[in-house]
Amino acid sequence: MPHDATILPTLQLNDSRKIPQLGFGVFQIPPAETAEAVATALETGYRHIDTAEMYENEREVGEALRASGLDRGEVFVTSKLSNSYHRPDDARRAFDTTLSELGFDYVDLFLIHWPLPTLYDGDFVSTWKVLEEVRSDGRARSIGVSNFEVAHLERLAAEADVVPAVNQIELHPYFQNRQVKSWGESRGIATQAWSPIAQGQVLDDPAIAGIAERAGRSPAQVVLRWQLQRGNIVFPKSTTPARIRENFELFDFDLGSSDMEAIDVLDRGEDGRNGPHPNRFDIVPS
Ligand SMILES: NC(=O)c1ccc[n+]([C@@H]2O[C@H](COP(=O)([O-])OP(=O)(O)OC[C@H]3O[C@@H](n4cnc5c(N)ncnc54)[C@H](OP(=O)(O)O)[C@@H]3O)[C@@H](O)[C@H]2O)c1
Repeated sequence: MPHDATILPTLQLNDSRKIPQLGFGVFQIPPAETAEAVATALETGYRHIDTAEMYENEREVGEALRASGLDRGEVFVTSKLSNSYHRPDDARRAFDTTLSELGFDYVDLFLIHWPLPTLYDGDFVSTWKVLEEVRSDGRARSIGVSNFEVAHLERLAAEADVVPAVNQIELHPYFQNRQVKSWGESRGIATQAWSPIAQGQVLDDPAIAGIAERAGRSPAQVVLRWQLQRGNIVFPKSTTPARIRENFELFDFDLGSSDMEAIDVLDRGEDGRNGPHPNRFDIVPS
């Protein structure tokens, strides 16, 4: 039974566009499984899909959306520039390829996936100017960044015209990334939390399990609900239909302040980070 998508909360971005606060992520979903997973997500009621050039499954995301019978305008779709294409001419071509892979004439949001400060002479500003171009010609409705640290955001603030609409960063109970989140939000940059359940690693935490038990919810639902109440945009990934549905059942309960604070104190700072540090990450697919 499809859900009523009108229950999905939206946030307003700094460019006045709206984004559903809950979406579906497709990182590490093999292309052959992507269309089915996205179809299940859309049937469940998700109206926001997060993909990337480097995930190599944009084509299947577009196919699933067309097969769903939904209008293009009903689903918010994000993609991200590959680390291979930061040089401006490459970035322009890569963006064209994203649209042709998806089979769309626009994306709702396009991001620089990683800042790569040790590559391309440390120049992500000229890359960002290409995103400004595709925003001004309407082919990306909103533009943003991912894995940008405060120093990277400061540099864009000093040298670019458009403030990113979002910064998509690793953020979960063990790594709450507070400095980057609060710096961005104080300048109107919304926070997208990637790996919102830490790829499952926080689900056995006794504090989270205890809250879940008392709330009659699953640990994943508790963590995702904490993310939403902290104002983060999330797109949990799953290829398991029951989990895809479970991760959508977040809008008929609230966590009280003591439960919220019990999750806040699980932050391990830098020790809780699972992914690479953005200052050093330099993998460029060939
Ligand atoms: N910008 C970036 O650099 C970046 C980096 C990483 C991720 N992301 C984005 O963020 C999205 C989510 O992050 P993620 O994929 O790394 O991790 P995640 O969503 O935190 O966790 C996904 C993992 O948790 C499992 N899972 C999902 N729901 C569950 C549930 N209800 N109960 C128990 N286990 C559950 C999934 O297993 P099954 O699939 O087997 O069910 C999968 O192994 C990505 O898909 C991508 O869109 C962006």
